[in-house]
Amino acid sequence: MLQSPPNDLDAFWMPFTDNRYFKANPRLLASARGMYYQTPEGREILDGTAGLWCVNAGHGRESIVEAIREQAGRLDFAPTFQLGHPLAFQLAARVGGMMPGDLDRVFFANSGSEAVDTALKIALAYHRVRGEGTRTRLIGRERGYHGTGFGGIAVGGIGPNRRTFGPGLPGSDHLPHTHDLARNAFTRGQAAHGAHLADALEGLVALHGGDTIAAVIVEPMAGSTGVLVPPIGYLERLREICTKHGILLIFDEVITAFGRIGAATAAERLGVTPDIITMAKGITNAAVPMGAVACRRGIYDAVTGAMAQAAGIELFHGYTYSAHPLACAAALATLDLYRDEALFERSRGLEAYWEAAVHGLAEGRHVIDIRNMGLVAGIEMAPREGAPGARGMEVFRRLFDTGLLVRATGDIIALSPPLIVEEAQIDTMVAALAGVLAETV
Ligand SMILES: Cc1ncc(COP(=O)(O)O)c(C=O)c1O
Repeated sequence: MLQSPPNDLDAFWMPFTDNRYFKANPRLLASARGMYYQTPEGREILDGTAGLWCVNAGHGRESIVEAIREQAGRLDFAPTFQLGHPLAFQLAARVGGMMPGDLDRVFFANSGSEAVDTALKIALAYHRVRGEGTRTRLIGRERGYHGTGFGGIAVGGIGPNRRTFGPGLPGSDHLPHTHDLARNAFTRGQAAHGAHLADALEGLVALHGGDTIAAVIVEPMAGSTGVLVPPIGYLERLREICTKHGILLIFDEVITAFGRIGAATAAERLGVTPDIITMAKGITNAAVPMGAVACRRGIYDAVTGAMAQAAGIELFHGYTYSAHPLACAAALATLDLYRDEALFERSRGLEAYWEAAVHGLAEGRHVIDIRNMGLVAGIEMAPREGAPGARGMEVFRRLFDTGLLVRATGDIIALSPPLIVEEAQIDTMVAALAGVLAETV
C-alpha cells in the first residue's frame, strides 16, 4: 500500500458522483507522473483524459511543482482588490498575448464555472455602460456545459444540471445543439452538414428582439456532453449574426484552450474570433485551480473608461483568490512548459495518428459514432434498452479496472490524453477500449 485508504468514505460528498455506488466500490488515485496515475495498491492507470481534460503537459511536472513550492515560500497570498502582486500582471500579459485578435485584457477567477459567470457579468456590464442596458438576455446552447454556477447552468443545456435548481436566470434561452447522428456519424473532424443550425440565432433575435440579447456563449467544441465538433461554417455563421446584431460572442474554451486542439485556443485554430474567451483547466496544468476571462480591449476600455468618470470601482466583481499567487506561479511555469516543449505543435502533429487510431474502433461492439478533433475523441455507443448511460458507466469502470482512465458522458466515451502522449500509448488506449467494448453487453 502506498497510502492507507480512508475509513469514513461518506465524509466526502463527492461531486458529479454516484456516491452510494462509489462508496461501496471505491476507486482511488494516490499519485501521478507523466502519462500515468497510480492507485493506492500501486496499480498503474494510463491517463486517457488528462485528469479531467486539464493536465495537458502530463502529471507531476517538476518545473510547475518547483514554481508552486517557491511561490508558497515567498508570497503565499496577496489580495488583488485595490492591491496587486507582480505575477498577476505578468500572467495576464502572457495569457493575453496568446489570445486571438485584441482579446488581451484578462480577468482571473478560480475555475471554469467562475470564469463563465465572470464573462456573462462582463457582457452585461459592457452593454449597460454603453447605454444598452436592455441587453440582459444570455443565450447558450442545448447540450452546452458551462460549469455549475447559476449563470453557467442558465446558459448550459444539460437537463439534470438544471432541473433541480429552479428557473435560473430570467430571459436566458438556447440555440439547438449540433449533434446530428443521422447525417454526420463517423465524420473525421468537422462535418460538412450543420452550419445552418447557427441561423437559429436569427430566430431568437426575431423572437426576443436583438436589442435584448447581451451575449451568446458556446463551446467551440463541446467536450463534456460528448465531444460535439462544430460543423464546417457553423462558428463563422454565429460570429456573423452576433456582429450584425451587436451581440457579444463568448467562446467557452475551458477545455479547448491550451493545446487541446493543436493551438493556444480553438478560436485561433478555427479562425473565428469571439469577443470574450473563458478558460481554466490547462492554464495551470490543473496543478492549482485557476480560471480566466480574456476580453477584447474595447470591452475593458468601455467598462473601465465609462465608469472612471465617476471614479471608483468599475466592475463590482471579483474573487478573494482572483490571481492567487500560487496559481499565477503555476500558470507561468505551465505556459513556459507548453512553449519550451512545443506541446501545442506536438499535439497538432499527433492528430492524424490519433484520428486514424480512434476511427479504428468504428466496427467495435455497440459503437454508433466516432468523432474527433485535435487530441479529443468521442466514441458513442448505442444505449441499453431502458437504461441510458448504463453501458457508458460500465465501460468506464471496466477500463479503469484494466488500467485506462477515460471519461463517460452518458453512453459516450471521451478521450483527451495529455499532449505528451506517445503513439504506442494511443495504441494501448484503443486496444483496451476494443477489448472492453467486446466484453460489454
Ligand atoms: C466548457 C466548460 N466550461 C466550464 C466548465 C466548468 O469548469 P469547472 O469545473 O472548473 O468549474 C467546464 C468543465 O468541464 C467546461 O468543460
